[in-house]
Amino acid sequence: MQKVSTENGATQVVKIRQSDNVRKAYTFSESKRLWQEAQQLIPGGSQGTRSPMYPDFPNYFSRAKGCRMWDVDGNEFIDLLCSIGPIILGYAYDRVDNAVKTVIDNSFQSSGNHPVQLELSKLLIELIPCAERVRFLKTGTEATMAAARLARHITGRTNIAHCGYHGWTDMWRRGYGVDNSCGVHKGTWEPILPFNGTAESLEELFKKTTEKFAAVFLCPVDTKPFTKENYQNIVDVAHKHGALVIFDEIKSGFRTALGGAQELLGVTPDITTLSKGLGNGYPIAAVVGKAEYMEGMTKTPTIGTFSVEALSITAALATLKELKEKNVVEHLWRVGQRLIDGLNQICRDYNMDGPVAFADPVPSIFRFTWDPKMGNNCTHPAHNYFFGECIRYGLFFSNWHVGFVNYSHSNKDIDEALDICDFVMAKTKRKF
Ligand SMILES: Cc1ncc(COP(=O)(O)O)c(C=O)c1O
Repeated sequence: MQKVSTENGATQVVKIRQSDNVRKAYTFSESKRLWQEAQQLIPGGSQGTRSPMYPDFPNYFSRAKGCRMWDVDGNEFIDLLCSIGPIILGYAYDRVDNAVKTVIDNSFQSSGNHPVQLELSKLLIELIPCAERVRFLKTGTEATMAAARLARHITGRTNIAHCGYHGWTDMWRRGYGVDNSCGVHKGTWEPILPFNGTAESLEELFKKTTEKFAAVFLCPVDTKPFTKENYQNIVDVAHKHGALVIFDEIKSGFRTALGGAQELLGVTPDITTLSKGLGNGYPIAAVVGKAEYMEGMTKTPTIGTFSVEALSITAALATLKELKEKNVVEHLWRVGQRLIDGLNQICRDYNMDGPVAFADPVPSIFRFTWDPKMGNNCTHPAHNYFFGECIRYGLFFSNWHVGFVNYSHSNKDIDEALDICDFVMAKTKRKF
């Protein structure tokens, strides 16, 4: 076991080797029973990304609090996925849930608007550098679709250049092995053209494509190098060619900095999409941007029946106030770095020259992989074995996605997670 630093920040390494019989692997009989039942109720038995990663897997959780989750078999887990990103403060976070309860008592729906929309808009405009107007939606996919439509409406152009993942809808499906047989008409994704994340590759794409571009979309977690110079060059190339720049900060928002990657790098896009961390798990997304562009939304309607419900808007307001008042981002970076350092120390201790942990692109969003080049697609058997065993011993750590920490992860929680990793790495080393 490695304790990498003490609560006051000093570094201290403590080694306590544990033998295999100290820990007992979890069993998942009730999860497996529910999973069987689900086959007759839900297509494929699960909601896509929530499908089991391994045959031995906690498919159902009945409770979560802070950075921990309890499955239906009563097993306790430290969570390093944070519901795939949105849990930024912690599960069942009192300040957020209590704010929501007060709105429930007075109805969170009406046939008009709730005034809390204005409060949240003001705070977003204060925090996000490019924000002068705000449109609320429910999911990240909705937000990226709305931003793309807005850019097409403003420029009168169709093509969109992009780098990264932006959601499940037809337009973003290029490269996912889909065609008409999957119900995705290629006419929707053909005008969406990828570039590799550098200004040079964007310039090349512009040069070789006859039709002009409405926008350049980039996801700051996927667009590398993550430097001011690269991002500013991308903005400059896009503007030179008359395209708007849209930062998809659905993953990076509020975790890189309170104002997102654009604040951290000092590079301001025209429009930004937000979701995930915005509502600490409540379903909310937003498109924000410069007023001259955002006013275009009055001409190209991007709104749904539930866009205005006040539960998630209230949750987002309470979340942002907490993020701002408690300096949450600094905490996320610190505990994220502690985890990264601890994982790399474990790799050194066991002489593992394959796996590496790193900030992706900042310590609050991290990756641990046997193959950094493969990202989510790493198929190294030791990689899959390690993550599968972590889950069997109480650490919910994903083999296919970047990991996240939240404000409820303390140094002690991270050290406990590292203890499990250390134990599992010993098993991995023996096996591979
Ligand atoms: C950068 C980015 N954009 C868009 C999306 C889509 O968001 P949602 O899953 O809420 O539709 C995601 C989801 O992971 C994302 O990470």
